[in-house]
Amino acid sequence: MLRKLLIGTALASGLAFAAHAEDVKEVQMLHWWTSGGEAAALNVLKQDLAKEGYAWKDVPVAGGGGDAAMTALKAMVAAGNYPTASQMLGYTVLDYAAAGVMGDLTETAKKEGWDKSVPAALQKFSVYDGKWVAAPVNVHSVNWLWINKAVMDKIGGTEPKTFDDFVALLDKAKAAGVVPLALGGQNWQEATMFDSVVLSTGGPEFYKKAMNDLDDASLKSDTMKKSFDNLAKLVTYVDPNFSGRDWNLATAMVIKGDALVQVMGDWAKGEFHAANKTPGTDFLCYRFPGTDGSVIYNSDMFGMFNVPDDRKAAQVALATATLSKSFQSAFNVVKGSVPARTDVPDTDFDACGKKGIADLKKANEGGTLFGSLAQGYGAPPAVANAYKDVVSKFVHGQIKTSDEAVTELVKAIDDAK
Ligand code: BGC
Repeated sequence: MLRKLLIGTALASGLAFAAHAEDVKEVQMLHWWTSGGEAAALNVLKQDLAKEGYAWKDVPVAGGGGDAAMTALKAMVAAGNYPTASQMLGYTVLDYAAAGVMGDLTETAKKEGWDKSVPAALQKFSVYDGKWVAAPVNVHSVNWLWINKAVMDKIGGTEPKTFDDFVALLDKAKAAGVVPLALGGQNWQEATMFDSVVLSTGGPEFYKKAMNDLDDASLKSDTMKKSFDNLAKLVTYVDPNFSGRDWNLATAMVIKGDALVQVMGDWAKGEFHAANKTPGTDFLCYRFPGTDGSVIYNSDMFGMFNVPDDRKAAQVALATATLSKSFQSAFNVVKGSVPARTDVPDTDFDACGKKGIADLKKANEGGTLFGSLAQGYGAPPAVANAYKDVVSKFVHGQIKTSDEAVTELVKAIDDAK
């Protein structure tokens, strides 16, 4: 469908700009980095490019997880109005590449040695048909807990190692009159949390089969049903106002001590960082109970569009800056993610960042690095959207039982495939 919509626009856009001879010294970037921590991270990039004489034309489309941004991108590209680059997740990059609208950064990649420094798991989504079409910015991971340390001390809590430990900890917070679980009731947040629940409930092999291979028997299994039971249990610990809440407002509840914990990708750490909070002193980062040793990842990619010739120099400057070692450190320290290259020292990262880097390396080597289904790295967008929809209907009571949730999930994924 994307292909049909986009056909013809590549040519149109090329012609429209063909008359310009001089390079346009501007980078136009579509993204959904609109929270405090995200904006601070983006500033690192803007400043790097400004030093090289490139102006920044911002196209922000709010909405964590990027669904609204991707709708805006589709409209821009269909109109032949290509941004220099767009923030994108995994399978979406491949969709646009298949539609023939992406540029080719292979020359830059060769010069910069990206083949050697970018992990294979990311190259799978940034290289299409032998050509580099995207520059990976970072590696995020979703199976984390973010905990307010003062609240944890007050309730006498310790790191939960199993799902049952986690429930016991949430009970302690409840008994102390604190909101146990800060959740934003939007489908992508609920599904992002469910990724971790599935991994915790079924283990690494099960996660891979169900959430990356879309294995029918696994999706239909009692383990998947149990995963929904566990999700239902967690939802009993959220406050009554959770529906529709933005993810960063849920993080703010934990930062302020109004809630004990948020289950969220490590972009949440960007909010703690922006609020000058220190891990170990103000907050704690633990792996989601029962998922230690595995990493569910997503990576923000800057998808590079096939812009007219006079805008290509700016694109190369953006791509080069993005994958430079110094930027990979400076940006990811602020963003909460870890570098998209394997050769960046962890010196400047805080304790959670150092753990993130070490965990990624171990998972990558040990075969326990898995794509997040909620975050575009488990399956193509249609399947991911079907998944988010079913999980959200379950959380909000439109799907009433775990049995029904499993049936609906299998059906929705089948229809989307
Ligand atoms: C992106 C993160 C972003 C988060 C919330 C995720 O999909 O990968 O970079 O911070 O959404 O906006």
